[in-house]
Amino acid sequence: MSTANAAKSGTFKIGGDLEVHRLGFGAMRITGSGVWGESDDPAEALRTLKRVPELGINLIDTADSYGPEISERMIHEALYPYNGLVIATKGGLIRPAPNVWNPCGRPDYLRQQVFVSMRRLGVERIDLWQLHRVDPDVPRDEQFDAIRELQYEGLIRHVGLSEVQVDDIEVAQKYFSVATVQNQFNLTNRQSNDVLNHCEAHNIGFIPWFPLAAGELARPGSPLDAIAKAHNASPSQIALAWLLRRSPVMLPIPGTGKVKHLEENVAAVDISLSDTEFEHLTALA
Ligand SMILES: NC(=O)c1ccc[n+]([C@@H]2O[C@H](COP(=O)([O-])OP(=O)(O)OC[C@H]3O[C@@H](n4cnc5c(N)ncnc54)[C@H](OP(=O)(O)O)[C@@H]3O)[C@@H](O)[C@H]2O)c1
Repeated sequence: MSTANAAKSGTFKIGGDLEVHRLGFGAMRITGSGVWGESDDPAEALRTLKRVPELGINLIDTADSYGPEISERMIHEALYPYNGLVIATKGGLIRPAPNVWNPCGRPDYLRQQVFVSMRRLGVERIDLWQLHRVDPDVPRDEQFDAIRELQYEGLIRHVGLSEVQVDDIEVAQKYFSVATVQNQFNLTNRQSNDVLNHCEAHNIGFIPWFPLAAGELARPGSPLDAIAKAHNASPSQIALAWLLRRSPVMLPIPGTGKVKHLEENVAAVDISLSDTEFEHLTALA
């Protein structure tokens, strides 16, 4: 059984006052194939969720659209009343079918989804609510203004954005304080480097999704493969160790529906990359 603890990843204060351990958990993979319906092994998914706080993780990322509904319901079933866990959820995507995600940023829809998430999670206020996508068919100012109102009414404590550019963050800041940004970022995809740098400069938490991706970089005999072997670790664990070292505002949320994988992911906090290894990995992409 793993003895690693996410506390070792260090801490970050979301919105300046909500302290979490930097290594979190993504609750998208506890649902079925295509992020649709129940997992093939719901009992194991539930065991995985219950193991999350035992391993020192206190930040869980979910969304109304994971399942849809299933992820938030399971989090409630496994972990309510949360005891210090920060449950970060999202809204703004409609799910008509497996693997289909359509933005909907109409203010009345965003408002409805905040209430629905509150009900499913059993909370009177959502600690961190993230706009899953800025809807290109609705003026972004209207979407941000609707969120400002939800926060003003006390339904949301902190606000985050997902898959945005620096310009979106700057416009959003006129409506509310942007606490986190969740963009795809990993060893193989650094397209959001500028967004990450902006977040670091403004103490905004950066939540990289798909954090475990190593892809082609992990082929046998590659530099990543060699570094992984030197640490007796997997390429994914090295990918996580690299992310944690890349920035103090980095909050990776690797996701799984399996206890064994969860334990492996948390064990990455015990990997200490040398300066040379870190620079080598940084230069790979
Ligand atoms: N904002 C957005 O638009 C957005 C988009 C995608 C995801 N997210 C969030 O980001 C989180 C993470 O992203 P992600 O799930 O796409 O990527 P990820 O966490 O990098 O990878 C998850 C995949 O890796 C597998 N896995 C996890 N740990 C493993 C291990 N130790 N060994 C082998 N395989 C392992 C999982 O399958 P098993 O279940 O079989 O372990 C799953 O297929 C999600 O849970 C969700 O909360 C956000």
